[in-house]
Amino acid sequence: MQHFNIIQALCRSALANPTDAIVHQIKRLKEALEKDGQTKEVNSLNGILNSSQANLEMAPSKIQKSFVLSAGETLTRKTVLPVDKETSTALVEVFFDDDLPAEPPIFSHEIQIAIEAIINEWVKFEQLIQLQAIPASSCLIYGSPGTGKTHLAKWIAKQIGLPVVLARLEGLMSSFLGTTSRNIGNLFAFANRYNCVLLLDEFDAIAKLRNDPQEVGEVKRVVNTLLQSLDSRHERGFTIGVTNHETLLDPAIWRRFDIQMQVPKPSTDVLLHLITKLAAPLNFSETELKFLAWSLEDSSGADAKMLVQWLKRVQVINPDSELVPVMRQFVLLNAGRISGERRDAMVRGDETLIQALLADKTFGFKQKDIAPLLNMAPSSISKLLSRTKEN
Ligand SMILES: Nc1ncnc2c1ncn2[C@@H]1O[C@H](COP(=O)(O)OP(=O)(O)OP(=O)(O)O)[C@@H](O)[C@H]1O
Ligand SMILES: [Mg+2]
Repeated sequence: MQHFNIIQALCRSALANPTDAIVHQIKRLKEALEKDGQTKEVNSLNGILNSSQANLEMAPSKIQKSFVLSAGETLTRKTVLPVDKETSTALVEVFFDDDLPAEPPIFSHEIQIAIEAIINEWVKFEQLIQLQAIPASSCLIYGSPGTGKTHLAKWIAKQIGLPVVLARLEGLMSSFLGTTSRNIGNLFAFANRYNCVLLLDEFDAIAKLRNDPQEVGEVKRVVNTLLQSLDSRHERGFTIGVTNHETLLDPAIWRRFDIQMQVPKPSTDVLLHLITKLAAPLNFSETELKFLAWSLEDSSGADAKMLVQWLKRVQVINPDSELVPVMRQFVLLNAGRISGERRDAMVRGDETLIQALLADKTFGFKQKDIAPLLNMAPSSISKLLSRTKEN
């Protein structure tokens, strides 16, 4: 048959990435040739189809073998880290088990379950591959500042028992864009060589460049290098990207991540849990805890941590101080951490604070709860409120 060698080549190329439709069409061609009695060509197509099937069956074990969990080298504290050739700034920082957080970040129950699912999948990566269930190997974590994203990324790495290779943006981003591309290449080459989780923290700094109105061709090349590097990493190891500016990320970057996880600001319940946990060994009454969580409305986990550290310092320096005046000081010195409404309610005096607490629907403060907080008798609160009403 004329030009059958080209048809053979076409079939082989198509079967390099076989889909049901491709296999179906090749089988149709084979049946048509069979009807015409072209036995030699039919045998050839059978051979091509069979070897493609054999390759498919081999694929899982191939991936497993090449996968970083079993194939990469082991990172140690002595491993030489890659540097920017011009400035000698390190491109990465490595965190080993001892350097990673001992406690999980605190989130809502639903988020905890989702995180467990990622960890389980990554812990059982090789078993999943054996079952041909290709697990996710990359995860994008995004959300507002201070919500625990970096903490979470490091916690996930700790749970799967791999060190973290953290990309250092100040090292990567050279003033020479050509060097930036080379640094990105070297970063991924390093991460692909070792068993590790590659953490691209705040990596919108690179990824967003492509949308910059000032963009130049060279900047596009930097982003393209990043895209290619993310592709090259896919079957080589776990990658976690973290960003506060998800809207600035190029859609092409989004697509590279198998899992995309939004970390929200803490809800009331999460805040209560977080404050209690962070405050240990300090103990607060239930109303005090509610008051602290009320003060932190719309704040982040990092804000809660700052507040608790402030309370601990006060406890050491001035152990007899009352919570409300201490909170007023905190509010004045941390204006950006507390919502304007809460700030106003706290600094405008006791009446305003009492009214704001009683008007709150979430915590259900009662006069009798608020009284000890302000070091007042419940009757004094009633009197104060009725006097305010009369005025
Ligand atoms: N949900 C949380 N549970 C426990 N700790 C938290 C939580 N959120 C924030 N923190 C603590 O607050 C600090 C800041 O958190 P982290 O750096 O992980 O936030 P981030 O989301 O990465 O912030 P940024 O966007 O500014 O980089 C850390 O010490 C972290 O442990
Ligand atoms: Mg962070």
